[in-house]
Amino acid sequence: MSKEIKNVEYGLEKIFEGAQDFLPLLGTDYVEFYVGNAKQSAHFYKTAFGFQSYAYAGLETGMKDRVSYVLKEDKIKLVLTTALKSDSPIGEHVKKHGDGVKVVALWVEDATKAWEETTKRGAKSFMEPTIEEDENGQVVRSGIYTYGETVHVFVERKNYDGLFLPGFQKWESDYNPTPVGLKFIDHMVGNVGWGEMNTWVKWYEDVMGFVNFLSFDDKQIHTEYSALMSKVMSNGNGRIKFPINEPAEGKKRSQIEEYLDFYESPGVQHIAVATDDIIETVKQLRARGVEFLSAPPKAYYEAIPARLGEHMSMMHEDIAELEKLAILVDADEEGYLLQIFTKPVEDRPTLFFEIIQRMGAKGFGAGNFKALFESIEREQAKRGTL
Ligand code: FE2
Repeated sequence: MSKEIKNVEYGLEKIFEGAQDFLPLLGTDYVEFYVGNAKQSAHFYKTAFGFQSYAYAGLETGMKDRVSYVLKEDKIKLVLTTALKSDSPIGEHVKKHGDGVKVVALWVEDATKAWEETTKRGAKSFMEPTIEEDENGQVVRSGIYTYGETVHVFVERKNYDGLFLPGFQKWESDYNPTPVGLKFIDHMVGNVGWGEMNTWVKWYEDVMGFVNFLSFDDKQIHTEYSALMSKVMSNGNGRIKFPINEPAEGKKRSQIEEYLDFYESPGVQHIAVATDDIIETVKQLRARGVEFLSAPPKAYYEAIPARLGEHMSMMHEDIAELEKLAILVDADEEGYLLQIFTKPVEDRPTLFFEIIQRMGAKGFGAGNFKALFESIEREQAKRGTL
């Protein structure tokens, strides 16, 4: 059904035959957060996650209404943006949602065509194709709304040699914590409202030409108390993967409902970032104050050899060490994967990060869903939101 190609840079890649080629995507360009205090958020992402100072735009660079810090770790670019005045859509966004992801920017060959093709297919425009220029050339950007107030910005940078975007200058800092080994974005998950998952699956199929290549229903994703449903969407070359979750009925309130209540709309739930050495990465993250969900019970780790079966022979990580760090393990036909989830990185229980190391497995840790959600429920119970 699908033909595989290899591209080490982006980890797993597949060519999905059902996918449409009217919107060729080269990869994720950047992820922009709207936050209450970008200066302090930037310090957190440098200190805790090992991001490097990269570019800056603000009053000093001629930006009048906002400040943006760009941070980079290997292929991942985060942009942290704060409004400078109260009368601002950025400020309104933060007031409603708290800190969160506003823009999932996608790198394209032709941002004008990307906008034309997607709006023609029903996307609501966020930004018409716009040329931005400086001495390093020109960038064309355009944008469309996806779920909630989240947007996709298309970035065409083939005629640009500058660091990031026109209007940004190099950000040099005397404070440069070392990276922790985060390499690229593996996938980004959206939470949508009750009964809306299939609407957004269809939107990604019709408007973006994506295909649905994995689905999980509430029979597969549930604990004693709560449930959710999820479908994984991918673009044609497999570089962009967006699972979409919706809550499902359970005895108590699911984590998706909790997210929707506190984000006050659909939005990005988690960003999964890849590492080549999850043990070293997680050790460093923990030492720098990143908080992770608690480990599943001992029985979970005792069952790993049986769960991994034939893949156990290729596993070189020490299970006792994985247990100590609360790293989860899952396997599919093609290999295994290691993953761990942070607690929310803001005061509202909304966005969190996943750290993932793929050792051949192409799934999303379905075998861990129960252990993971029970861990989330322990946190929800503390918050009184279960
Ligand atoms: Fe994930």
